[in-house]
Amino acid sequence: MQNLTYKILEKHLLKGKLEAGQPIEIRMDQTLTQDATGTMAYMQFEAMGVKKVKTELSVSYVDHNTLQNGFMNADDHAYLQSVASKYGIYFSKAGNGICHQVHLERFAKPQKTLIGSDSHTPTSSAIGCIAIGAGGLDVAKAMAGIGYRLTCPKVVEVKLTGTLAHGVSSKDIILKLLELLSVKGGVGKVFEYTGEGVKNLSVYQRATITNMGAELGATTSIFPSDEVTREFLKRQQREEDYIPLSADEGCHYDETVEIDLSKLVPLAACPNSPDAVKNVSELSGMKVDQVAIGSCTNSGYEDLMKAAAILKGKKIAHNVSLVVSPGSRQVLMKLIENGTLSTFVSCGARILECTCGPCIGMGQSPKSDAVSLRTFNRNFYGRSGTLSAGIYLVSPEVAAASAITGVITDPTTLDYADEFEKEQSYIDDSLIYAPSKNPENVEIVRGPNIKTLPVNTPMDQTIDKKVVIKLPDNITTDHIAPAGAKVLPYRSNIEKLSTFVFENNKPHFDEVCKENNGGIIVAGENYGQGSSREHAALAPMYLGIKAVLAKSFARIHLANLVNFGLLPLVFDDKSNYDKIDEMDELKIENVDSFYNSFDLTIENVTKKETYKVHAPISKEDVEILMAGGALNYIRNQQ
Ligand code: F3S
Repeated sequence: MQNLTYKILEKHLLKGKLEAGQPIEIRMDQTLTQDATGTMAYMQFEAMGVKKVKTELSVSYVDHNTLQNGFMNADDHAYLQSVASKYGIYFSKAGNGICHQVHLERFAKPQKTLIGSDSHTPTSSAIGCIAIGAGGLDVAKAMAGIGYRLTCPKVVEVKLTGTLAHGVSSKDIILKLLELLSVKGGVGKVFEYTGEGVKNLSVYQRATITNMGAELGATTSIFPSDEVTREFLKRQQREEDYIPLSADEGCHYDETVEIDLSKLVPLAACPNSPDAVKNVSELSGMKVDQVAIGSCTNSGYEDLMKAAAILKGKKIAHNVSLVVSPGSRQVLMKLIENGTLSTFVSCGARILECTCGPCIGMGQSPKSDAVSLRTFNRNFYGRSGTLSAGIYLVSPEVAAASAITGVITDPTTLDYADEFEKEQSYIDDSLIYAPSKNPENVEIVRGPNIKTLPVNTPMDQTIDKKVVIKLPDNITTDHIAPAGAKVLPYRSNIEKLSTFVFENNKPHFDEVCKENNGGIIVAGENYGQGSSREHAALAPMYLGIKAVLAKSFARIHLANLVNFGLLPLVFDDKSNYDKIDEMDELKIENVDSFYNSFDLTIENVTKKETYKVHAPISKEDVEILMAGGALNYIRNQQ
């Protein structure tokens, strides 16, 4: 008797045993990249010297850096299109939609495995596959036919009963879990949804949950593939991809959480963390400046139809700016066809293109000290582009209701019809380009923004460096390598990008690193939570950071540190964190003793004391670290 997670993992197992906590390696059937992480991933893939991707399907999406103020983003897009054509990869052009929305609609299949260089890749697990977010190098490895190594996860059953009440959304289910378990609560775990309540959720509703499961720190989240899945695939004209899949009756779960859907109320995640959850009724009446509906969390057909049901025939409040970004061109076309777009325009909404947009700080930064309600998945400090703004994460229903009243409003108090026309999808793949049939004739386009890939040197036996920054708990990849319109155009230009590292925590951090010939980072719990961007390891590597000493690490960032040859170390005794100050000199000797044991001693030369530390990594990770990162390691093996 097996749970659904282990059933799929077993079918793809290359190495190891399916026992929680054990290292395993699995075969990846599909890959996806987006442009902000994709350029690096494809440069790394090129460096591996493989002629054609070895996956069943690989797709390159352009959805993040779509502003074209200067040549940089356009250079990246041209590079991505040519690389895709040459190496056997489908290319989804800017304007076709957000990677997760399009992948769910057009490519994801039950029982398959998918790895994507975006932390919200688990969105596709809404239809019963194992979809995992990872750094670009791990995606490049998968495209080269190399298995993906991970720690075999614990499986948490989330048992749903009942039905959501009027005005309550699937966003409230995942916000409830975040309230219960916190942003660290899912580390090393897969959340598998079961119970009668599952049947009452559409694929789009399920996708909101699997998408935002990433905020729990989970490896992924998964729903069974059932009649609801079949209907969804049928509407996408790919019913042939349907396979019924579910957990065996009475199978083992490591933990169980029960949620009665009928008892849920509308919730909001308050600034600046997705787990700072309150009931919307507690926030009612707070003046709102901006409302944004969209992102890979809530931009599907149903999300926008629900928002439109509330907005129909109304006007937005004078104090509110409302923006709407449909998740895919298919969804936008459907809204045009059924007249819903005119509901949005006539109520006063501004329609944005089908991209990530404000979610990644690409435009629509709110005014100073603003209250911004967003249907997105992250509200980390500074992510909106306005440091003093307070970002609240809510459902489309709460967003729409508040846009009309101008204050945070509980939609359960409103009378509106939440029935709408069942989707008959508008199918159009004309902005998805198949790879070339004559790859030898395809020239890769390398504009001036496409710089060479920096590669680390093999690990030194002794690391003797200053602590160039000391950071608190829950530092996100947005803190390390910020996003936003100012920075994102340099995702293929690490020299330039590195000047922005920690810019909101410690301005001119790059200069501090240069003055001290690199350094060591000291951090609290859950270091590197948030997005999968490997730039958060690559840019510090470029600045000469040799090690990160933390109380604990987020999963994807830990893998990225290893991939780029930065030593990740965890305090044995977390209270030693308090004894270290910025600019203390830390010395680690005999680094290769890791081959025998994962324990080391760090000497604080300044304070004349020592601390026991360990590395939460596998034997193969040690080999990768010693080689100076995964690219060197792969080249050495070749
Ligand atoms: Fe894009 Fe935001 Fe999702 S950046 S992929 S919409 S989390």
